[in-house]
Amino acid sequence: MNREDFKILYTGLIYFDNAATALKPYILSETISDYYNYYSANAHRGNYDLSLKSSKMYEKTRLLVKEFINAQKEKEIIFTSGTTDSINKIVFGYFKHHLKKDDEVLLSKSEHASNVLPWFMLSKEIGFKIKYIPLNENHEITLESLKKMLNNKTKVIALAHITNVVGDIRPLAEIIEIAHKNNILVLVDGAQSVAHMPVDVQKLDIDFLAFSAHKMSGPTGVGVLYGKENLLKETTPIILGGGMSAEFNTKGEVIYKDLPDLLEAGTPNIAGVIGFGETIKYLNNIGMDKIRIYEQELKQYLIKRLKEIKKVKIYNEKANSSIVTINYEGISPYDLALYLNKYNICVRAGNHCAKILKEELNINNTCRISLYFYNTKKEVDYLIETLKNIEVFDF
Ligand code: ALA
Repeated sequence: MNREDFKILYTGLIYFDNAATALKPYILSETISDYYNYYSANAHRGNYDLSLKSSKMYEKTRLLVKEFINAQKEKEIIFTSGTTDSINKIVFGYFKHHLKKDDEVLLSKSEHASNVLPWFMLSKEIGFKIKYIPLNENHEITLESLKKMLNNKTKVIALAHITNVVGDIRPLAEIIEIAHKNNILVLVDGAQSVAHMPVDVQKLDIDFLAFSAHKMSGPTGVGVLYGKENLLKETTPIILGGGMSAEFNTKGEVIYKDLPDLLEAGTPNIAGVIGFGETIKYLNNIGMDKIRIYEQELKQYLIKRLKEIKKVKIYNEKANSSIVTINYEGISPYDLALYLNKYNICVRAGNHCAKILKEELNINNTCRISLYFYNTKKEVDYLIETLKNIEVFDF
């Protein structure tokens, strides 16, 4: 779909590393260059036309994001630099002030580093315990395994909506229902989901959601922290500076601004946020439901064709997302990625920043093929033919 909007594809490039970052439609760079060329004033800090326009465009994106994830209020949308920044702001801004030594935080071993390392650091500081919800034979968490982990010390469940290696889609609605019945808050890492399927924070009753613009064909350096208003109100800013205070004096007295300004100190990535607004409009025009259905069909086709190659081991055939993780017998995933690169095919090799997952998969590294709406069956066919010809390649 929409391949003509991606100039980089004109070169014949086959891009299957969408879980790392997605390609950008030309409209993104046009929007960003318009800002830099014609109204590159600071936002929220000037009462002249240029600055007012910049503020207006920046805030327009907030409204678009609010509608895109169906948040209740615009002030529940905080712009950050990406998923990692968003999760850090929640862990150190909210949970640092709400967790105690005897509490427990539930993660899984398939979480990305961004949803593990901040918890490790805070746990060292406060002393709470981190526990891992066991994964089943398909490397998924189940509601039964989750329920078994709960006790009256459990205060947080922090999980990816879609994991970045296994690609399983977590049953968020059910997980959150169980969590809330037990007074547990849920932090959702939406880095791999918001770009690929409709995500409705009110319907799912998500407490905190973190995601990045660049994985949804938007700019790098822009992310979103969504939080329910009552929770964000209790979030302490971990970055302090311009734009977040109404008044301060030499006695150290500060009157802070309300949300969202309170959590957006400093000049933000104005160009990026404005570009992100255009990306959301672009995705809305295609339709997130349509993207999800298209990717599902393409992924099934990819799996079917990969199965023609005996030496390919698929680790996550049952997973419901557009991420397929494989290895090729006798070839390291790094060599496999280099081989494919020779034929203009981009895939990611390694542990994909999910470094404790190896304890479950019994394998350190894999090759990941991750799809997006501009990928095609023809590209999949070319990948399969290239893999079938691998014996003749001189490593
Ligand atoms: N989190 C990104 C990935 O999975 C970078 O590749």
